Amino acid sequence: MRIAIIGGTGRQGPGMALRWAKAGHAVVIGSRQQEKAARIAAELNQSLQQNLIQGMVNAEAAQWGEVIAITVPYAAHRSTLEQIRPQVQGKIVIDVTVPLDPQNPRRLLFPPQGSATAEAQEILGDQAQVVAAFQHIPAPALRNIDEPLEADVLVCGESTQAKDTVIKLIQQMGMRGLDVGPLAHAPIVEGITLLLMTLNRRYKGGHAAIRITGLPEL
Ligand SMILES: NC(=O)c1ccc[n+]([C@@H]2O[C@H](COP(=O)([O-])OP(=O)(O)OC[C@H]3O[C@@H](n4cnc5c(N)ncnc54)[C@H](OP(=O)(O)O)[C@@H]3O)[C@@H](O)[C@H]2O)c1
Repeated sequence: MRIAIIGGTGRQGPGMALRWAKAGHAVVIGSRQQEKAARIAAELNQSLQQNLIQGMVNAEAAQWGEVIAITVPYAAHRSTLEQIRPQVQGKIVIDVTVPLDPQNPRRLLFPPQGSATAEAQEILGDQAQVVAAFQHIPAPALRNIDEPLEADVLVCGESTQAKDTVIKLIQQMGMRGLDVGPLAHAPIVEGITLLLMTLNRRYKGGHAAIRITGLPEL
């Protein structure tokens, strides 16, 4: 599959890129600047010791990808989505965004749509299949591809087909993906991240994540 990670040059995107590239997918990281995208892609390829990841500007990356992940800070969420709207029609969009208040990142700032994911669905329109995922996966753990990731990825959105595709992509990264329901559940999914961030401050040195127990073997 061709996977494009918009804003993939930051903290969260590179670990996703590395894990998907290692699983055999074609991966592009997107940036506002071509030079930065190419530079970070080269660094990631060096750590993989293979040339598997390319860098492009965000709109070009979104055009190229079949599945598009959004890993930008909430302050850049709307403007980034508006920019790539034409390129993602008919595609699966994985929104990783946690709507933290840019003025106070210890607080959530939910938009009128109820969640960042619902806001993304509204901006992109019905032809894009938007799912929330990866909000609970800490960037340093994602990036450390030699260690298994002991975490579940909660996935929500309207399209079961899109969620099933994303859950397969999560399994290929070495984690369990779980369908936690419709887009209406996205405020809960996004909100849990604030609790994990609180745990990381309270118990220093940790990278808290989520593991669901009590389910049958999947
Ligand atoms: N970090 C984590 O552990 C973590 C965990 C779970 C979820 N998340 C969520 O994932 C998203 C990305 O987090 P992150 O830590 O990777 O963010 P980040 O490193 O601060 O930023 C990611 C990329 O977004 C682009 N960007 C930054 N400001 C922008 C702006 N004003 N306009 C357009 N693009 C901008 C930059 O790419 P270019 O400069 O190359 O364009 C940057 O490399 C956030 O919504 C966060 O809540 C993060």
